[in-house]
Amino acid sequence: MANTVLVGAQWGDEGKGKVIDYLTDRVDVVVRSQGGNNAGHTVVVGDVKYILRLIPSGILRPGKLCVIGNGVVVDPISLCEEIGELKSQGVEISKENLLISEAAHLVFPYHKLIDEYRELAVGPNKIGTTKRGIGPAYGDKIARVGIRLGDLLVPDRFKDRLDSRRQEVDWLLQQYGAKPIDWRELTRQYLVAGEQLKEMVTNTVLELHGLMQEGKEILFEGAQGTFLDIDHGTYPYVTSSNTTAGGACTGAGVPPTRIDRVVGAMKAYTTRVGEGPFPTEDQGISDMLHAMGREFGVNTGRERRCGWFDAVATRFAVIVNGIDEIAVTNLDGLDQLETIKICVEYKREGKGVVSPPTCVQEFGRCTPVYIEVPGWKEPTTGAKTYEDLPKNARLYLEKVCELIGAKLSLVGVGQKREQTIVVTPELVAAS
Ligand code: IMP
Repeated sequence: MANTVLVGAQWGDEGKGKVIDYLTDRVDVVVRSQGGNNAGHTVVVGDVKYILRLIPSGILRPGKLCVIGNGVVVDPISLCEEIGELKSQGVEISKENLLISEAAHLVFPYHKLIDEYRELAVGPNKIGTTKRGIGPAYGDKIARVGIRLGDLLVPDRFKDRLDSRRQEVDWLLQQYGAKPIDWRELTRQYLVAGEQLKEMVTNTVLELHGLMQEGKEILFEGAQGTFLDIDHGTYPYVTSSNTTAGGACTGAGVPPTRIDRVVGAMKAYTTRVGEGPFPTEDQGISDMLHAMGREFGVNTGRERRCGWFDAVATRFAVIVNGIDEIAVTNLDGLDQLETIKICVEYKREGKGVVSPPTCVQEFGRCTPVYIEVPGWKEPTTGAKTYEDLPKNARLYLEKVCELIGAKLSLVGVGQKREQTIVVTPELVAAS
């Protein structure tokens, strides 16, 4: 398989973990290039459930190299915990299968506090963040006051860099009325984590270029989704990184000329967590999915907001990412329905709108226009091939593809690794 970028084509939580896990089998290297431990991928292998936050899902496949790229923000304490949890589940992790960029920026406890207090300060205008400190950590990076993983490995340099942040951070936390930081304890804990991660920290840009020269193939696994992109999403209700395909290049140091294909993951319906516009949100479908025990956040346990498939938004995701193929997940979530709605355009002040507006206020004024298609009212969870799917399920998928202008490659009909239907074998064979 060629160098592939996998992106979320909606608001995150598209079931990318499962798709990535499937695609990983066909590549040598799996790279995370943006986001932090705000992401959460669930992969079920046999009866074991693995939860991945920062570590690429490739870690579950022996012989694959995983890379956390320069574009990721790393909370080293949380990363050490994640490594510990996976090891306790029998997953081997060492520098043989996990490399971390020395240029990745660190997330600190003060970032989490600022994240939390900033949300409180804006009251009803809050973003609904994961409170993992992601926005403030990226903020420091862009403001050029961030501290990187490479700094952590040199204790004196790390202490100096951290010292240079104290005055401003203490002042800010005081304004918020937050508990002050215990800098000594923070330094101690971070240096311990640094020591643990040290053997894996390297110049991952050079590593990746060396691997490409050897003919190794790479999967860039996206975190979050297109409409959470800092530039192309429903700003300000977004995350703080580029979740779209271009983010894979800047976040890993691999040029666009080396990317061969982009695969988009999307649910058969739509979900979002946190605040912000969501034109096709629907209480009925939310209640149905929650009653099925689905659509609760992996990391935060929050109920996800749910709605119908939005072809207007997803068509834009196809364009902005250059999506060639799509993987539709969670088809089984629609198994019970008599009829299913698909949003084909928005109406704003009586006029038809065929692409999502840039401005969030206008987005909020759009109402969806639906078509209705018949449901299939039978379980799809046991389907092994595309032909095994009920006719109406296939018609639904084909309609979705026609509306968004992309080719169907994979269909997910359950959480397990085996519950994945390969529709176009080219996806796994092409190189
Ligand atoms: P932050 O990334 O924690 O700053 O949160 C910003 C927005 O992105 C919030 O609406 C979050 O709910 C959303 N978000 C962040 N990570 C994920 C994810 O992995 N899945 C879905 N939404 C996410």
